[in-house]
Amino acid sequence: MLGNFSYYNPTKLYFGDESLKFLKDELKGYGPVVMLNYGSGSVKRNGIYDQVVAILKEAGKTIVENPGVMTNPTLEKLREGVKIARENNIDLILALGGGSVCDYSKAVAASVFYEGDYWDKFWLKQEQPDAGQKLLPVGCVLTMAGTGSEMNAGTVITDAEHTFKAGHVFDSRLMPKFSILNPKFTMTVPDNQMKAGIYDIMNHIMEQYFSDFDDNTSDYIAEGLMRSVITSSRIAVKNSQDYEARSNIMWTATWALNTLIGLGKKEDWMVHMIGHSVGAWTHAPHGYALASVSMAYYQRALENGLPKFARFAHNVWDIPTEGKTERELAEAGLEALKDWMLEIGLPLTISELGATADMIPGITDTTVIYPAGYLDLTKEDVAEILKESL
Ligand code: NZQ
Ligand code: ZN
Repeated sequence: MLGNFSYYNPTKLYFGDESLKFLKDELKGYGPVVMLNYGSGSVKRNGIYDQVVAILKEAGKTIVENPGVMTNPTLEKLREGVKIARENNIDLILALGGGSVCDYSKAVAASVFYEGDYWDKFWLKQEQPDAGQKLLPVGCVLTMAGTGSEMNAGTVITDAEHTFKAGHVFDSRLMPKFSILNPKFTMTVPDNQMKAGIYDIMNHIMEQYFSDFDDNTSDYIAEGLMRSVITSSRIAVKNSQDYEARSNIMWTATWALNTLIGLGKKEDWMVHMIGHSVGAWTHAPHGYALASVSMAYYQRALENGLPKFARFAHNVWDIPTEGKTERELAEAGLEALKDWMLEIGLPLTISELGATADMIPGITDTTVIYPAGYLDLTKEDVAEILKESL
């Protein structure tokens, strides 16, 4: 552990098939008006909405509903939510849904009391709320595993007008105050979204793992989490109703992106940056967009990160080291990753998501570039990666 860091995570978690019963106690800590954000209707079809509304009513809360939070929530919808919150004197925002609804709820919570242009301040300039700014508390009842939004301060919002998807990680003030994780609630997630969520988890871990070469406890935790996702994903794609597998997937999702495994690490995040841009152009599920550019990206990263890729092959995929050079081992690890992605049915190209060669300049242009784990990419490199991903 060569880095310096502090660690603080204020989100209280309730996990398990009985976890919703704790919502009632949590609600006691907040005032009477609850803004209830949810998506396009899955929570009504599977009955989770009725269960949550019954608890809210029993607790004597006034419910201000804000349905229609779309997957990859838009700036337009954010503006709508901020207006509703401003008009209704909200005490608590309750997110009922997947990462999109959780992200969106944090975005509303940050923006309600900011008097200037919140899109510009938080998402374009990447600033934090000023010290004295009031923020609304957020709680989540999670219905889909993947993003880790239930225990982090990330908020990804899409400016649909400019085909630009912008992520902002707020400081710990915007982390959910509590999150309720009932794996049974994820059982009705459509297969494609479940698979997208699984790859999102795997890629969150990889984004943090593939950086630096020091011996770091965070990497050992990351390897354990990856092994768990791989094991459970193989079971869940065969039987999506396997509670044990779905509960492990839900739990690894939370730990994959609640900042723990990034401690003391430089981290990468360029698959996400390119993936966000692919997502804005194709409207593909977030995890699919990540999968579609991963192989081309990691082939390049491997050149500079051979020892870590070789370790990935052995410690995550159980590939024997004997008789292999470091490079052969590293390449075998990426091959194993690819085989697993094919096995669980993930897209390996952007063409499968509807992207065409003529979109590449636009996707490249809207990709935000950070100094990555093992690569310092230019826009030309991003365009090459996209071409190789066609
Ligand atoms: O609209 P509803 O009815 O909610 O349906 C959703 C949506 O269509 C459906 N769904 C969710 N739970 C369900 C269900 N359908 C049936 N039964 C259930 N129990 O699944 C679809 C996808 O949901 P969504 O919330 O969009 O998916 P996900 O959790 O993958 O969230 C994606 C968003 O999170 C952002 C992504 O960019 C994207 O905007 N991310 C947030 C991050 C963070 N906060 O740290 C990090 C991630 O890398 C990611 O960027
Ligand atoms: Zn992600």
